[in-house]
Amino acid sequence: MTKCELNFIVQPKHTNAVGTLFGGEMLSRMDTCAAIASRRLFTSNEFDHIVTMHVEVDFKKPAVVGDVVTMYGEIVNLGKSSIKINIKATKETESGTIETMGTGIFIMCTVKDGKPYPHGLKVK
Ligand SMILES: CC(C)(COP(=O)(O)OP(=O)(O)OC[C@H]1O[C@@H](n2cnc3c(N)ncnc32)[C@H](O)[C@@H]1OP(=O)(O)O)[C@@H](O)C(=O)NCCC(=O)NCCS
Repeated sequence: MTKCELNFIVQPKHTNAVGTLFGGEMLSRMDTCAAIASRRLFTSNEFDHIVTMHVEVDFKKPAVVGDVVTMYGEIVNLGKSSIKINIKATKETESGTIETMGTGIFIMCTVKDGKPYPHGLKVK
């Protein structure tokens, strides 16, 4: 099963009105991680795109400016046209402490002509 790891350092432009990492920024990074992990499943394909179909996310701890946030994505299941990816997000503070800050389940779908299209893969 393919994986993806993405990290970034929280900057002031990523924060919300209370000075912590904006949830929408976190969702966007998680979605990107899920998309990259999904794309790595395929070396060639008959479908047009892989799109996000369903998302469930828990925000467990806030991150602040200077924290290094890392998203770990892993494919955990394959349906006919669906791909299920678990995402774990950690934050590393400037003092080096690492904590889980969020988790997510993303369902992506392979699409052709705007409709679900079987990707032809099975869980090994
Ligand atoms: C993706 C899209 C073409 C799917 O069409 P649809 O008719 O809604 O698809 P279906 O209901 O047949 O579901 C497709 C697959 O997703 C799965 N699925 C759908 N909703 C789900 C949910 N809430 N949880 C888990 N799996 C789900 C289905 O079980 C099916 O899986 P399978 O093919 O492996 O058996 C359509 O929903 C769409 O275009 N959505 C917009 C996508 C988008 O814009 N995303 C944001 C930008 S990337």
